Amino acid sequence: MSGEVISAKDVVKKFGDKIAVNKVNLSVFRGEIFGFLGPNGAGKTTTIRLLAGALEPDDGDIRILGKDYKNDAIDIKRRIGVVPDEPPRFKNIKGKEFLKFIASVYKCEKDVYDRLDELCELLNIDFLNDYIDNYSHGMKQKLMVASVVMRKPDIMFLDEPTTGLDPYSARGLKLLLRRIADDGSAIFLTTHILEIAEKMCDKLTVIANGEIVAEGTVEQLRQKAGMKGDLEEIFLQLTGADETEIRKLVNEL
Ligand SMILES: Nc1ncnc2c1ncn2[C@@H]1O[C@H](COP(=O)(O)OP(=O)(O)OP(=O)(O)O)[C@@H](O)[C@H]1O
Ligand SMILES: [Mg+2]
Repeated sequence: MSGEVISAKDVVKKFGDKIAVNKVNLSVFRGEIFGFLGPNGAGKTTTIRLLAGALEPDDGDIRILGKDYKNDAIDIKRRIGVVPDEPPRFKNIKGKEFLKFIASVYKCEKDVYDRLDELCELLNIDFLNDYIDNYSHGMKQKLMVASVVMRKPDIMFLDEPTTGLDPYSARGLKLLLRRIADDGSAIFLTTHILEIAEKMCDKLTVIANGEIVAEGTVEQLRQKAGMKGDLEEIFLQLTGADETEIRKLVNEL
């Protein structure tokens, strides 16, 4: 096996007249932390939803772990995990009960609970006996991360995973994701935090207006943008933003 676990070819997704994802091609391998960057509304979350089987593409081909959703949806979904940008709402259920439920649905082995104890320590989760309704945003986010990581999926999709996490938990999550990738899984994450993109990701892809505008390592992006600057400047350049325009607008306020 080539190790390619995510393959997207000319994938298109429209919402009415809006083309949210336009002929996107992606390739992600085992052991990689893949960073997906782009301005608000660029198509990142839509792409994650397509790759995770929550949306159907209008055109193109998606293969996850060498399989497609038409024939093997259940098998794929058992082997991937998704941490969405907004945690889902839960009524009248405690964190512990939710994790038990997930462990039983996914038929996790018994050692899942040993792993869970370590995860809780790493992410500072000490609230599993409380109702999820009463959690803060960051607490819900961490619960979602734990519920996915404990299953040891082959691919993890994380949509802006550090948003809402305190520095201790964010650090724990970053180290954890590196270890999961080094153990052979693939991590697909979106982020607006360019420091995370630069320090954590093995490969970056930049999307703007639904189209991929650049991909490669930070160094390769730097070359493509034809500049020496930091990733923020490169990002602005690649996504067609005009720094002078931003400054002008601020001055006019
Ligand atoms: N369910 C939907 N119905 C209609 N339009 C949608 C829907 N989901 C996304 N869109 C549109 O598709 C485009 C891409 O949205 P998407 O959520 O993928 O952006 P994003 O890159 O994740 O942005 P952000 O950085 O703000 O999270 C936007 O124009 C958005 O309005
Ligand atoms: Mg998004």
